[in-house]
Amino acid sequence: MCGIVGYIGKKPAFPFLLSGLKRILYRGYDSFGFGVIGKENKLNCFKRPGKLDEWEQKLLEMNFEGNIGIAHTRWATTGTVTEANSHPHWDCHRNIFLVHNGIIENYKELKEKLEKEGHKFHSECDTEVLAHLIEKFFKGNLETAVRNALKFVRGTYGLAIIARNDPEKIVVARNSSPILIGIGENEYIVASDAAAIVDRTKKVIYLDDGEVAVLTPSRFFITDINQNQIEKNIKEIDWDLEEVQKGDYSHFMIKEIIEEPETIENAVRGRLMIEEGRVKLGGLDGIQEKLRKINRIILVACGTAGYAARVGEYMLEEYVGIPTEVDIASEFRYRKPVVDKNTAAIFVSQSGETADTLAALKEMKEKGILTIGITNVVGSTQSRETDAGVYTRSGPEIAVASTKAFLGQLAILSMLAVYLGRQREMALVMGKRIVSELTKLPELAKETLKSAPEIEKLAKKYKNFKNFWFIGRKYNFPIALEGALKLKEISYLHAEGVAGGELKHGPIALIDENFPTVAICPLDSVYEKMISNIQEIKAREGKVIAVATQGDKDIKKIADDVIYIPKTLEMLTPMLSVIPLHLFAYYIAVLLGHDVDKPRNLAKSCTVE
Ligand code: M6R
Repeated sequence: MCGIVGYIGKKPAFPFLLSGLKRILYRGYDSFGFGVIGKENKLNCFKRPGKLDEWEQKLLEMNFEGNIGIAHTRWATTGTVTEANSHPHWDCHRNIFLVHNGIIENYKELKEKLEKEGHKFHSECDTEVLAHLIEKFFKGNLETAVRNALKFVRGTYGLAIIARNDPEKIVVARNSSPILIGIGENEYIVASDAAAIVDRTKKVIYLDDGEVAVLTPSRFFITDINQNQIEKNIKEIDWDLEEVQKGDYSHFMIKEIIEEPETIENAVRGRLMIEEGRVKLGGLDGIQEKLRKINRIILVACGTAGYAARVGEYMLEEYVGIPTEVDIASEFRYRKPVVDKNTAAIFVSQSGETADTLAALKEMKEKGILTIGITNVVGSTQSRETDAGVYTRSGPEIAVASTKAFLGQLAILSMLAVYLGRQREMALVMGKRIVSELTKLPELAKETLKSAPEIEKLAKKYKNFKNFWFIGRKYNFPIALEGALKLKEISYLHAEGVAGGELKHGPIALIDENFPTVAICPLDSVYEKMISNIQEIKAREGKVIAVATQGDKDIKKIADDVIYIPKTLEMLTPMLSVIPLHLFAYYIAVLLGHDVDKPRNLAKSCTVE
């Protein structure tokens, strides 16, 4: 979604703003803008709807001078995609300039009031109201005006603000929208995403809700909205610039799919205790005893993370024996979940910044429920707000469509099943079996990737179909949902995931020779049932691409095409069966000529509701 970059220091701000912004374009955007304070405190501003790379040459020629600046990518929410609605926004006197991520909920009433007071607006965007509100309180000191203005604001924001009449500073504020400050050598960098700053510094401060930071070329300080000083710890980013670069790959998505075996390896490294049939999850040490007492688990997430949670539901119920349910965060936050002191809520999120998931987390915290995060991004809001958590260690995921992070989430959930299972009835031998299979899984995932050329051929064969079913049962039902989501997200083809057993209850009506089905049918406890489903489809002339276990020759007799995956434990098969589906979606989207890494209408992390 929207992205923010800001620079204050001794070097020219513009080249840094440009390169920083380019590194967070992956989040999805529809317009962009820059504001740099130049000579005699003149504000150089440029904003446009459309793609940044189309304007890059012109921007480089303009090369705004100045050592203080802000930049933004907008993903439209309030107001259409126009130049006026893009950021920065400014006040009546072009003194205050600001960029904003989030939504100002009471902007209409604020706007009405400010208009009555004589302020002239030039856009439909909710953000503009902030510039005028700050203008109203501005008496020469920017941070005082910002603090006073924010007392009247309802909504979410990550903000970076500059003023021509108080030019030696950037003021930054946060409420429910991530923003961090990079501490460089004689310079400070503001960003909504660490990817924007990692080539300049790895030292960061993550702002928390209600905090306002003031950055000058030589110092910074943080207060709350009432001007009380706040001391914060500097954190270290633990990944490198190369991880947010494509290298020789044509897209981030294929790079990240190829990294899937490594992602499993990173997730399990140092956490498996084979002899004891146990796992060590350091992030849960502090709540070990509380976890012994829980008798119900609710998993909350969105999109792909939600499908990982659904696989987790099968794992936890089968191996821990605790009633477990999965909820979509956007629904969960509005229903009235019945929870008690022995319920644990587990939030699964790659970014740790998904607004719906965070709102559900807040709701559970208010009810005093034990909250646990399974998160990829270190220092993200989810990782800081949950009582305890486990990092997936998947590394930065840049492609909008989530792939490797899903593998990281599945690996953590399978380890969580062992962790909680061994606290309860799970036998040593079972613990050992799962743990030792997990050690082999990265190799098995590598072997699975070897079918990439075959899958590319299948993509060529099937790319012109307009509709697809994905079917699976038990552990692979959520994988059917994930396979369908991935295909629709990046290829814009219609694809639906359905539980194999549900076909006959309606979906089968659509099957004909033009509606192929991807059937996930490894040799597991529901294999026979899946075979029946495939036969039902074949009887109606539907084409079937089967994802099956190596050595299963029978499947070739009924499916039109087969992609083989290695044998593993049933509960771990999703970590292999999903790989061909990620590849299938990728190759089809490439063949159809789509912008695979930045699919239309989508944002990497949905930081607004
Ligand atoms: O960052 P999160 O894991 O919380 O994001 C959740 C979903 O928004 C995300 O998985 C989304 O569905 C992706 N587009 C899937 O590819």
